[in-house]
Amino acid sequence: MWKKFSSTITIVFLILCAAANSIVKASFEDEVDIKRSDFPDGFLFGAATSSYQIEGANLEDGRSLCNWDVFCHIKGSIANGDSADIAEDHYNRYMEDIEILHSLGVDAYRFSISWSRVLPRGKFGGVNQAGILFYNKIIDNLLSRGIEPFVTIHHFDYPQELENRYGGWLSHLMQEDFVHFAEICFQSFGDRVKYWCTINEPNLFSEFAYERGTYPPAHCSPPFGNCSTGNSDVEPLIAVHNMLLGHAKTVKIYRERFKSEQRGVVGIVVHSFMYKPLTEDKRDKEAADRALAFNIAWILDPVVFGDYPPEMRHYHGSELPKFASEERIILRDSIDFIGINHYATLYAKDCIYSSCICNDSSCTKGSDRAIRGFVYTAAERDGVPIGEPTGMARFFVVPRGMEEIVEYAKKRYLNKPMFVTENGYSSPLNKVEDYHHDVKRINYLKSYLAFLARAIRNGADVRGYFLWTLMDDFEWVNGYSVRFGIYRVDPQTLNRTPKLSASWFRNFLSNCSLNYVESCNSISLMNTDESRAQSE
Ligand code: NOJ
Repeated sequence: MWKKFSSTITIVFLILCAAANSIVKASFEDEVDIKRSDFPDGFLFGAATSSYQIEGANLEDGRSLCNWDVFCHIKGSIANGDSADIAEDHYNRYMEDIEILHSLGVDAYRFSISWSRVLPRGKFGGVNQAGILFYNKIIDNLLSRGIEPFVTIHHFDYPQELENRYGGWLSHLMQEDFVHFAEICFQSFGDRVKYWCTINEPNLFSEFAYERGTYPPAHCSPPFGNCSTGNSDVEPLIAVHNMLLGHAKTVKIYRERFKSEQRGVVGIVVHSFMYKPLTEDKRDKEAADRALAFNIAWILDPVVFGDYPPEMRHYHGSELPKFASEERIILRDSIDFIGINHYATLYAKDCIYSSCICNDSSCTKGSDRAIRGFVYTAAERDGVPIGEPTGMARFFVVPRGMEEIVEYAKKRYLNKPMFVTENGYSSPLNKVEDYHHDVKRINYLKSYLAFLARAIRNGADVRGYFLWTLMDDFEWVNGYSVRFGIYRVDPQTLNRTPKLSASWFRNFLSNCSLNYVESCNSISLMNTDESRAQSE
C-alpha cells in the first residue's frame, strides 16, 4: 500500500516536471521521494572507487610506477600540482573503508585492481604476491560483511613499463598484456568475485589520452591541442581497437577456462553522456544520434554485434581500423552486462551542414572532424545552461538524462542487462557546504535515481546502481579540487567523516527515509574522527 502510494507521488512529481519546460531545474531542486523499495528485489546498490584514485602507497610493497604516477610528476599536468602518491591512503586504511561501506549498508562495492601492484612489469615480470594479498584481504573482508565485490580489472592505470616498451594501448601488444593481467585476476580472485568489468571507459580514456592530450601519455594534434606527439584523428581509434580486442580475448578465456567453475559475469563500462539536439532542426537531431553512436555505440556495438556502429563506418575513412572475421566472432556477444557511467547531458549541434568553428573557451575544438562525428557539443542554448553546473566542466545536472540513456541502451542492445556503474555529483569548486551539508548532492542522487526507477518500471533490465564515490579522492587532472565523495577526507589527517549525503544514502538503503535527517537515527555511520576518539 505504502509502496504504491510513494510510487504514485514519484510519478506525479515526474509528470509535473515533464509538463514544465524547465524540467531540468525543477527536478533537481524539488524534493523527490525515492525509496529503495521503488527498485526491484535483488537490485544491487553500492558505492564505487578506483585503485589509482584512492590507494596511494605508490611504491609500497613492490608496486611499480604506473602511467599516472609519471604523468602527475610532469609539471602542469594536474591542478595545483597534486599527485596521488598518497591519495586517500586506502592501501593502509582499507579496513576502515570497508567498515564505512558496511555502515552504509551497501550490497556491493565496485573497486579496481592496480595493474602495477599485481604485475609491476606487466608480462615482463612476475606476480607481486603482496598485491595479490592486498586484494584478497579486501575481497574476504567485503564478503564476510555480506558485501559483493564488483571488480574492474583496468581503470585508467597501467605499468609505465608497458608505455615505455611499446606505447601502451597504441600497440596491439597491449592486448596480450591485458589478457595476462586479467587471467591472473581470474586465477587469484575469481573463486570469490562474481562480477567483473574488463575495462573502465575506453571511450573517455582514449579521448583524453590520445585526442585532447590531457591524460597520459598526453598525445594530441591540432586543432584538438598542442602536444609534442600524437594524431587526434587516428590514435583514439587505434587505442579503442586494442582495448576492445583485449576485452574480447579476455572474455573468451574467462568463458572457456573459468566460467563453468567460477560462475561469474563479465561486462565493460562505457562513459555515457546523454545528448539532446541543440535546436528542433532535424540535422541537430541527427547530430545528437551521431554523438551517441560515436561515443557509446563505438564501444558497445562491437561487443554486442561484433563490429563498429554503421554510423562510424559511414563517416570514417580508412582511419577506422577493421576487425578480421575471427575477431568479429570473439567480439560478438562478449559481454554479459553493460556498465553505464552516467553523470550529465549535453546539447548536440550538426557540423556537417553548418559551420562549427570553435573560437572561444566555451567550446571544445575539433567538433568539425570525423573523430567527433561532426558534432559540436555544448552545455548552453542561447546563453541558458542545460542544467545546473557542478564542479566538473561539462557535467551539468540533467536528471532525466538517466532515464534517456538507459532507454537508449535498452533499445539499441535489446535490453541487455545493465548496471549503472557510476553516478554522482561534485559540487562547484570551493563550496564549503560540500564538506558536511551537501544537500545538492542528495538532491542530485534522488532525482537521478527517480528517473532510473522510472526506466526500470518501463522495462529496462537494470540490475544495480553504484554511487560515485565513497570518499573525496584524486579526480585525475583536477587533483583534489573536485570532490565527488559522500565522505569527506581531511587533507591533512586523511580522516574520513560522513557528509549529509552519506546519512541520506544509508537511510535510503535501509528504506526508512522520507526525511534524510531525522529518521533512522538508530543506525550509526562509521566516522574516523569518532572511532579514533572512542578508542583513545
Ligand atoms: C568516471 C571515471 O570512471 C572516474 O574515474 C571519475 O572519477 C568519474 N568519472 C568522475 O569524473
